[in-house]
Amino acid sequence: MTPPVRVSVIGIGCGSPDHLTLQAVRALGSLDVVVLTDKRRGDDPLVHVRERMLAEHVAGVQTVVVHDPPRERRAEHVGDQRSYERAVEDWHDARASAYADALAPYRGRQVGFLVWGDPAFYDSTLRILGRVAAAGLPLDIEVVPGVSAVQLLAARHRLVLNDIGAPITVTTGRRLAEEADRGTDNIVVMLNRSLDAVELGDDWHIWWGANLGTAHESLLSGDLRTTAPQIDGERNRVRAAAGWVMDVYLLRRRA
Ligand SMILES: C[S@@+](CC[C@H](N)C(=O)[O-])C[C@H]1O[C@@H](n2cnc3c(N)ncnc32)[C@H](O)[C@@H]1O
Repeated sequence: MTPPVRVSVIGIGCGSPDHLTLQAVRALGSLDVVVLTDKRRGDDPLVHVRERMLAEHVAGVQTVVVHDPPRERRAEHVGDQRSYERAVEDWHDARASAYADALAPYRGRQVGFLVWGDPAFYDSTLRILGRVAAAGLPLDIEVVPGVSAVQLLAARHRLVLNDIGAPITVTTGRRLAEEADRGTDNIVVMLNRSLDAVELGDDWHIWWGANLGTAHESLLSGDLRTTAPQIDGERNRVRAAAGWVMDVYLLRRRA
């Protein structure tokens, strides 16, 4: 029987080489090949971060670059939740077929995917590999956890994310307003295209961080209403300086 492709899905932290765990470094050392997903057709700064990491720990390892299939983002096609989910489904199908093509030659070999942060937070690699396997390519998958942006945010602001015995909600900028309307009062927000929190009104405190763990890291905290304009300015400044910006924040409703 032909053996499965052995796949390591490795959380690599959010940009700092210091946040690669020892387990991740060991896993990198066992790879025959690494699949890198390029979202910008040859000029993806996050691919360059991964390449630097590989050069430091496993110089010379073979890499296969998969160009990310285009994703529908036009507001008129993804405005409501259903059409958004359908657009993501289509994109995942296309990605699964690109991953299947990249993986098929490596049966019996060890292939790595370097996942930003931790594979369990807003990352589709495991879901897409699930589709690849369901479509008929046998995979043997191991997951190596990584340091997530959520943990970095908490560490940088010296925060415990939950109040004593209380829940934490983690959601996206897109769904923040509905979460706040529902009365949720302790919310970590990821995947932001802008500072969606500005819509929320006066009763909130924000702890914000961008490009955490990198040379362009930026942190701000304070009353939401007064801090929001500063955050907007910082987002633009960081994007211009680093070539990319990713930010995450905790919002807590004041008692
Ligand atoms: C596609 S999700 C991936 C999350 C990742 N798997 C994790 O565990 O953090 C990308 C989002 O994570 C957050 N993020 C990732 N890296 C970050 C960083 N270095 N600084 C701040 N936020 C970051 C941002 O909210 C960004 O929009």
